[in-house]
Amino acid sequence: MTTDRALAPEVASDYVEVAEDADTTAGSHDTTMEAVVELCKRRGLIFQSSEIYGGLRGAWDFGPLGAALKDNVKAAWKRDMIQLRGDVVQLDASILMHPRVWEASGHVEGFTDPLVECRTCNARFREDQVTQGDASTYECPRSDYSLCDFGPAKQFNLMFQTHVGPTMESGAAVWMRPETAQAMFVDFAHVQLTSRQKVPFGIAQVGKSFRNEIPPRNFIFRVREFEQMEMEYFVRPGTDEPWHEYWIQQRWDWYLRYGIRRDNLRIRPHAADELSHYAKRTVDVEYRFPFAWSELEGIANRTDFDLSRHAEFSGKDLSYFDPALDERYVPYVIEPAAGVDRSALAFLVDAYRDEEAPTAKGGTERRVWLQLHHALAPMKVAVLPLSRNEKLVPTATEVADILRPRWMIDYDETGSIGKRYRRQDEVGTPFCVTVDFETVEEDRAVTVRDRDTMVQERVAIDRLEAYLAERLDTPS
Ligand code: GAP
Repeated sequence: MTTDRALAPEVASDYVEVAEDADTTAGSHDTTMEAVVELCKRRGLIFQSSEIYGGLRGAWDFGPLGAALKDNVKAAWKRDMIQLRGDVVQLDASILMHPRVWEASGHVEGFTDPLVECRTCNARFREDQVTQGDASTYECPRSDYSLCDFGPAKQFNLMFQTHVGPTMESGAAVWMRPETAQAMFVDFAHVQLTSRQKVPFGIAQVGKSFRNEIPPRNFIFRVREFEQMEMEYFVRPGTDEPWHEYWIQQRWDWYLRYGIRRDNLRIRPHAADELSHYAKRTVDVEYRFPFAWSELEGIANRTDFDLSRHAEFSGKDLSYFDPALDERYVPYVIEPAAGVDRSALAFLVDAYRDEEAPTAKGGTERRVWLQLHHALAPMKVAVLPLSRNEKLVPTATEVADILRPRWMIDYDETGSIGKRYRRQDEVGTPFCVTVDFETVEEDRAVTVRDRDTMVQERVAIDRLEAYLAERLDTPS
């Protein structure tokens, strides 16, 4: 066991690592994007922004169930990255920051994509899409980009600019942050001092970021406004490589813990020509999306690049005095940087099941359901009176009210009970609680149906909360 707190705990690495140039299209998924997108739209989880005006590309709205799913993804991340640790503290920084931040970070100069534009129809593509034959004809007004006559590639900055104050003068221009990370560097000294954390420690932030992606695509995979879950872990120089290894394993375990199947996950190191200007080494956690193996999260060893640059540009000392060593240094940083929207999409795709299931009458029927981890399921329990009968409704309402302070509860009294089970299965509700005539006339017990096994059990209302807590609150 490692006893020096500055050193990374020894962890057995068991993640699957592939080569830098591993095939991104290899293998197929048992779920299609079309099926997941259709379910999300039909059940109002995720749909296009400003739909009544024809929508805005790259912008999506999360309806009631989608917003709850996203909240749960963020809560799971915060629980494991902050609450359960003690060496990571939270920050909620402003989206608009001083413009010099983005000069120091390298974003003004280098956060660009090479863009090519057609001289005749003005359609715009990222250069690599055209050279790799990966462009969508959607962008071209003639619906066939192979007819385009492209000019030379130009560097296009992905940051959105806006203005503060009543004037449009250049001095008032600010950027919408393209990553949450920079605030953790800029606020490093302040947070370290006030939280009295000692290196190694982390600062974590969950929040919106903005990138003018050309083009946004694959549903919520690549969008212009998204949420990130980033953590900057400050370590003593020289201890950075084992800490990098440690965080790769932690993040791998997190995706598995919340239900991603191991076969659909892999770690791919960046090749030298792919590394960001700040990184000594980066790996991507990749998920086997139906369209390709693609990045879920980047885990970078950012060295002391950011703290040194902000010290240089601001003129403020961002070094750290290490009492254990009686020495001052600029910490190195390990950064696990994940996307909320992208994680939510991976969890949805991975949970999607389309199966034949036995019916009560001995036949089979199609069953679409989400095998979401209980912690991620938007609704934890659905309370269903057998019918709208006036004898049943008061007790069903009472049961829902007993459970509501603890969990997100759906109350549904319309349609046959079979249909209502299917509605809950489709959005991954772990338990359905049915109130029937026996409940009110005989035993004050309800039928609890388990989403995964479809097994039904009779449980007394007095025992119901404890019964569900045992099954819902235990991490599985
Ligand atoms: N601070 C480092 C950083 O921002 P990144 O790889 O550019 O690194 C981290 O972004 C994560 O943020 C990505 O792995 C992805 O999950 C998410 N992300 C980045 N751009 C995105 C976009 N346009 N749409 C949705 N998610 C995005």
